Amino acid sequence: MNILITGCNGQLGTEMRNLSAQHTNHTYFFTDVQELDITNRQAVLDFVQNNNIDLIVNCAAYTNVDKAEEDEVTARLINAQAVENLASAGCKIIHVSTDYVFSGDEHVPCRESDPVAPRTAYGRTKYEGEQLLLNTNPQAIIFRTAWLYSPYGNNFVKTMLKYGREKDELRVVYDQIGTPTYAEDLAMAIYAAIEAPQWHAGIYHFTNEGVCSWFDFTVEILRQAGVTCKVTPILSSEYQYKTPRPHYSVLDKAKVKTTFGITIPYWTDSLAKCLKRL
Ligand SMILES: NC(=O)c1ccc[n+]([C@@H]2O[C@H](COP(=O)([O-])OP(=O)(O)OC[C@H]3O[C@@H](n4cnc5c(N)ncnc54)[C@H](OP(=O)(O)O)[C@@H]3O)[C@@H](O)[C@H]2O)c1
Repeated sequence: MNILITGCNGQLGTEMRNLSAQHTNHTYFFTDVQELDITNRQAVLDFVQNNNIDLIVNCAAYTNVDKAEEDEVTARLINAQAVENLASAGCKIIHVSTDYVFSGDEHVPCRESDPVAPRTAYGRTKYEGEQLLLNTNPQAIIFRTAWLYSPYGNNFVKTMLKYGREKDELRVVYDQIGTPTYAEDLAMAIYAAIEAPQWHAGIYHFTNEGVCSWFDFTVEILRQAGVTCKVTPILSSEYQYKTPRPHYSVLDKAKVKTTFGITIPYWTDSLAKCLKRL
């Protein structure tokens, strides 16, 4: 297949590129905003037609949750309208969405069929993207993920490593519960969907296995990296968030595991793999 990977310089896009070396049965077109701005509908349609694209994997997004609150228009352009541009190109599509489509008030892992209730501009625009995509191309595949990190770009792991080395104490919330996702593991799941004998349209939840708070995540990052720094658990109410954060956003991964026959690594094991690469 001819596969277009958008947002290829981001965390997930970079891991998709890295893993493409193990999936040489396809021809890849890696683009980021400089090569193909997905908000430009005509450019998207022309690119897909001129390169005979069979499948788009959309790794492009407006991912800054706080900035999205201040500039929802731009977030909507990239997270929603641009996704419709991609969907209307008439080829297969795998898109990536977020746990922020849920309210975060749940107490059990969220299933794909659970009602959504986004509380932030980022969550709203990502959900609109899902809807526009499925209305335009009901055969699309959507992977919802959460707490994404990798050796690339800005992410929680790299930030905590930096602060842990610089400061004597880190105060981190322990009342927000979720699961980290190593971008390489998500990229492997996306390749599993691409290589599956059949196309399985639908929404899938994907994170690593297990559950933790941001406090637990920080303690484990510093422990594995051998960084000595006091980590103090605090409540969300003690931290000045610009944007509300979900208190509980664990995703139920049963569907992705059964459909694609994959085993998902435990979050601390994947963290160790990432830290070795940093
Ligand atoms: N990061 C997380 O914690 C997280 C959590 C849940 C879900 N997700 C979802 O997972 C997916 C991958 O996230 P990520 O962390 O890999 O994102 P990322 O690192 O922010 O990468 C996104 C890439 O898209 C590019 N991009 C932005 N606007 C574009 C446009 N108009 N046309 C083409 N490319 C454009 C960005 O370029 P610039 O950097 O120049 O803007 C960036 O290279 C996204 O759908 C995101 O919503 C992420």
